[in-house]
Amino acid sequence: MPVPRTAAFPPSGDASASRAGEGLAALAGLAPSAVLQRRLERAAPLLPALETRPDIDCPGWAALLDAVTVGETRLFRAAPQLLALRGLMPGLPGRPLRLLSAGCSSGEEAWSLALLAEGAGIEAEVLGLDINRSALAAAAAGRYPAGPPDALREVPAPLRPRFQLADGWVLPGAARPPAFLRANLLAPPPGLGRFGAILCRNVLIYLLPTARDTILRDLAGRLLPGGALLLGPTEFPGPDLPLRPEPGVHGVWRRL
Ligand SMILES: C[S@@+](CC[C@H](N)C(=O)[O-])C[C@H]1O[C@@H](n2cnc3c(N)ncnc32)[C@H](O)[C@@H]1O
Repeated sequence: MPVPRTAAFPPSGDASASRAGEGLAALAGLAPSAVLQRRLERAAPLLPALETRPDIDCPGWAALLDAVTVGETRLFRAAPQLLALRGLMPGLPGRPLRLLSAGCSSGEEAWSLALLAEGAGIEAEVLGLDINRSALAAAAAGRYPAGPPDALREVPAPLRPRFQLADGWVLPGAARPPAFLRANLLAPPPGLGRFGAILCRNVLIYLLPTARDTILRDLAGRLLPGGALLLGPTEFPGPDLPLRPEPGVHGVWRRL
């Protein structure tokens, strides 16, 4: 994928940081930003170990991605948007509905989807993808600090009994827990298949425009007809994609 060079980033003039910034852009589509610059400065001890060619499976680049990606997330983040999803998920007859959290971070979004589907009586398989190994380890552990702030503050009241509280943790109790997989959204794993709904919320804001376009095109192609794509509040698909905005709910598009 052609990605603009980021030769002037970070502006510190530090050659190893500059090479790291260029590698992160080419590899994962990460855009130069003040946040990335600060994180690169903190990750300076990792830079001498970077392999020559950026690759998510190389230990040096994997550790750098773990250190610089922004993983902020919450259970039932933007709950009204999630709740709107319940009527917008086509499946294939005789098969569980497939739901994707693309850029799942520590998994709260995927666990929320699993509980949402169960609460609506829908048999669903939820998959979370992310490039950050430590976030995925937290996702698979399936327990979150109870707070403060209260980890359940955005969870709709009828679904709160689905969480156990134990020793300062909340544990989502989904009968069918989500699966999690390390993947680069710019180079999705072969055989990923199609989904009734895809959430890619608060991911594209950290990426270069070319990377956003590539990912959105790929995700739109993975939706079943009528399936829903949910994006963050400031993220929009291009007009050339086979998607139309869902009336009455912000950040939801349906596959034509
Ligand atoms: C801010 S979190 C969003 C979490 C969740 N979707 C939400 O809205 O709460 C962004 C996540 O995107 C992941 N990410 C960024 N670029 C990625 C890429 N190229 N491939 C896979 N994951 C990526 C980061 O590792 C991070 O965990």
